[in-house]
Amino acid sequence: MSLESVSRLEKKLLVPTYDRQPMLLERGDGVYVWDSTGKKYLDFLSGLGVNALGHNHQAIQNVIRKQAAKLIHTCNIFYHEYQSELASRLTKMSGLDRAFFSNSGTEAWDGALKLARAFAQMEAKGGRAKTRILALENSFHGRTYGAMSTTGQKKYRVPFAPLVPGVKFVKFNDIEDLEKKFDGTVCAVCIETIQGEGGIQPVGRKFLEHARKMTQKSGALLILDEIQCGLGRTGKHFAYQHYGVLPDMVTVAKPLAAGLPLGAILTTERVAACMKPGLHGTTFGGGPLACAVAIEFLRQEEKLLKHVIEVGKYFGDALEMLDGKHRSIEDVRGAGLMRAVELDSADLAKAVLVRMREAGIIVNRTHETVLRFLPPYIIQKKHIDLLVEELDKALSAGIPATESTTKVSQVSAQKTRANMGRIRAHKNARKPKAGLISAPAAAVLPRTAKTQPSETKEKDEEYAYA
Ligand SMILES: Cc1ncc(COP(=O)(O)O)c(C=O)c1O
Repeated sequence: MSLESVSRLEKKLLVPTYDRQPMLLERGDGVYVWDSTGKKYLDFLSGLGVNALGHNHQAIQNVIRKQAAKLIHTCNIFYHEYQSELASRLTKMSGLDRAFFSNSGTEAWDGALKLARAFAQMEAKGGRAKTRILALENSFHGRTYGAMSTTGQKKYRVPFAPLVPGVKFVKFNDIEDLEKKFDGTVCAVCIETIQGEGGIQPVGRKFLEHARKMTQKSGALLILDEIQCGLGRTGKHFAYQHYGVLPDMVTVAKPLAAGLPLGAILTTERVAACMKPGLHGTTFGGGPLACAVAIEFLRQEEKLLKHVIEVGKYFGDALEMLDGKHRSIEDVRGAGLMRAVELDSADLAKAVLVRMREAGIIVNRTHETVLRFLPPYIIQKKHIDLLVEELDKALSAGIPATESTTKVSQVSAQKTRANMGRIRAHKNARKPKAGLISAPAAAVLPRTAKTQPSETKEKDEEYAYA
């Protein structure tokens, strides 16, 4: 079928939840995918951070083939041999004790919230349990009710009110605001170690350490969402390992089963004690096929960590150079192979995306103005060079004159032609003097964002829970 006929049929038959790019993807190999016209694309998105080993990975193919011929699904009434081995690897990597397997990120996150409330009830021993949950503004935790209710962006929550009650949002990286909203009724503080959908915003070291101290003191749980930033993407198994902070719970998903749906909650012995058979579960989660593949993924991930650090640094440095050249770049952020370039206009970001696609490179736009890069861990320096070269051209071209935003485009083009040194000086003046992330994390994690996430300007809206 052609792209035209597929898109026509989808328009008629699917619930309209996706604004798809006009590409009908047919196959992938390594860091490349091909569409139905035979056009080849360099994949700097890897299925939103899922295909971390790239496409058509031989070891993954072998496990899928072998396991599919043996046993695909059992349901959780029976044992199969892979959940315990996978849990053993994940707990060793994370420093936590126990695992629960789900099908997706949002489901892992909802499960973590359930554990937090059940743990608080267990601790209350029949008395009044802590129930309040603090989450961060600008965060994204998923689309199911618990995840959506703790997602700090109104656009995802408001159409679906009333939401799960008892959630309050803390300004991103704002210790004072955390202290103001935290009290003895809080059962959990929820943080994405690096906000992904929110524009690749790493949590500040001092903020995370403070959240850890406060939760430890009061008996609340610190829950980290590493569904996007975890499992090797930053060059360590978990992004929190750059900070030296151990959470009570962490959620992972995306790359875990190399393209098959699988998520996990990892937690401590103490928290897991709040569960008993029947309190939580899933039909599909942790099936033998997905778990067997995940074990292989973790074997491969371990071998790639050094490479991720090396090419990740190369990528970060290359984007910094670009930042020095183009005034339309507001900020570059990220760690390892989770990188972002924030532009000064949504129209420019859209135009760059189209140009990159035409040039045969897949990137993604999030938070309107942010170009997000989540390439597979097997990406090489030559691919990064190509991306940066095309990005440079796209930024220099600016917004096409045919669009209504011609004026902005002209301004942008003038800016990119301006003296590079002058722009560098201007940008240096904008940089914060001291980053929240200090050494040794600073070596890997980026400086604190120059721009604060826009949603931090929002007022807390209680009405969403009415
Ligand atoms: C940080 C984070 N949490 C949760 C989710 C939800 O995961 P899923 O789409 O697998 O439900 C995502 C997805 O993008 C995410 O980036």
